[in-house]
Order: sequence, then C-alpha cells, then structure tokens
Amino acid sequence: MSEICVIGSCSMDLVVTSERRPKAGETVLGTDFQTVPGGKGANQAVAASRLGANVYMVGKAGNDSYGKAIIENLKANGVNTDHMETVTHKKSGTAHIVLAEGDNSIVVVKGANDDISPDYAKSALAKLPGIDIVLIQQEIPEETVEEVCSYCRAQQIPVILNPAPARPLKQSTIEDAAYLTPNEHEASILFPDRTKEEALAGYPGKLFITEGKQGVRYSDGTAERLIPAFPAEAVDTTGAGDTFNAALAVALAEGRDIEQALLFANRAASLSVQHFGAQGGMPARKEVEELLS
Ligand code: RIB
Repeated sequence: MSEICVIGSCSMDLVVTSERRPKAGETVLGTDFQTVPGGKGANQAVAASRLGANVYMVGKAGNDSYGKAIIENLKANGVNTDHMETVTHKKSGTAHIVLAEGDNSIVVVKGANDDISPDYAKSALAKLPGIDIVLIQQEIPEETVEEVCSYCRAQQIPVILNPAPARPLKQSTIEDAAYLTPNEHEASILFPDRTKEEALAGYPGKLFITEGKQGVRYSDGTAERLIPAFPAEAVDTTGAGDTFNAALAVALAEGRDIEQALLFANRAASLSVQHFGAQGGMPARKEVEELLS
C-alpha cells in the first residue's frame, strides 16, 4: 500500500447554490445552502484514502464545531489524524462557495490553517518514515510550502506541489518540488515570463498543466502531450483538482509511468464532478479501475 502524507488546509465549505452569482452591490435569491467538509488538503487526503493509499493528514483545525466535524470526517474516511492539531486561538478555516452558472466562486478564510508553521510540518514529516510522496497546496503559509519542499528534496521524498490558490513561487521552490500541477491561470503566475509552451518544455515530466475539460498537458522531453479529460456530466466541479492531485499521487507512488498516472488522475477527477460537494463525488478505487478497464 502506498504511503502518502498531505500537508495542507482542512476547512468547512459553506456552499450556496444560486441561479446566478450576484454582481457587486446586488442581492440575489439562492436555492440551497449546505455545509460540507472541504479544504484542499483535507480533500486530497480523503481522495487518496478512497483510492486505496495509507494517508496521513498534517494540519490544524479550530476548537469549534467545524474543527470537530473536520477531524471526524477525516477519520471516517480512513485518514490518519495523529498529526492534526486543534488550536484554541483561531477558528477553523472556512470556504465560502457560490455555485452558479455551472461553476464555483470561492472565498477562503484560512483561520487555523494559517498556523501550520514550517517547523510543525517538518517535525510531523520527520515522525513519518516510509512516506512515498508528499502532497502540498497553498492555503497554508508560503514559508511552510517553501521549507517542506526543500526538506523533502533533501530527504529524497518526492513532493507534488499543487500551486492553488495562485501565488508566485520562489525559483528554488519550483526546483525543489518533484511535480507541479497548476491550472492555466496558476501556471501564468508561476511562469510570468514564459509562454505555456516554454514552461512545459522547461520542465519535462514535472510540470502538468490542467486545462479543465480539455485534460492535462505536459512535455515528455521530446514533445508536448495532452492527456484528454474523460467526458462527464458535471454537477459540481469543486474538488475536481484535489481529486486529480490525489489520484496522481497514488498512481505515482504505486510506480505507474507518467502517462498512466495522468490517465488514472483524469478518470478519478471525471468521476468526482458528478456529485455535489468537494468530497461528495470522490471515487473509490474500484470505480476508477472499472472505468479504466
Ligand atoms: O479545491 C476545492 C476546495 O477549495 C474547497 O473544498 C474549498 O475548501 C476551497 O478551499
């Protein structure tokens, strides 16, 4: 069984469904409101666990009802929470999501996620020998992402850095990560002086640019390759990127080559969008295998 450590945000998603999103200064009537577990880190941990990995979540939650529910949800999904800390001076992270016109808009309040310090993350990692791959995203402090990538490179633990939400990265962090998985917008922030083609060619087998319904693009060192997405009736795309990253981690940790790993990740992501909520549609291993066969 592959061993995956996720370092990242655990939040509660407050989701409003509406015909259309309000313009600035406008009020519209919504059709539904739900509270569901989310946060990019927790989403990736739950997705990887459902896909059959042994998953450790390193993160923080507030000492409040959301925090309790966040940790219970991780446990219920088979994720190890020994390195989840409850803090008393900050509330749990929340994501305020509007689902309208076939897409989501999200405002994240980091809360306790902002307390995941470099030392906290590295000391948890040091207590977890045998990790095959680390997954990290950007709803936590910048210096934690930087130091974890550098620590893991020194320890020869591959890191998948999912640079979401977008923010510029130091060149050293780009080099320290084993894999980068931006969407097109995030890629343009990471590589402001390069075209997409130049960025891909500069990082063969490492930079995977996700293009939504199109699929995922990378360079194999000789040419650019597009691994197409699988068609799906999308109910809610929230968490599709997290499912993609988690499935990629699982497939790479199991030794699949890049093309096979990206196919596996695309399949898992296509299943995830077919249900409401970031984690609602995350597939079990069997569902992905059935679809691939
Ligand atoms: O990637 C989706 C996640 O981003 C949501 O679950 C929400 O928590 C936001 O952080």
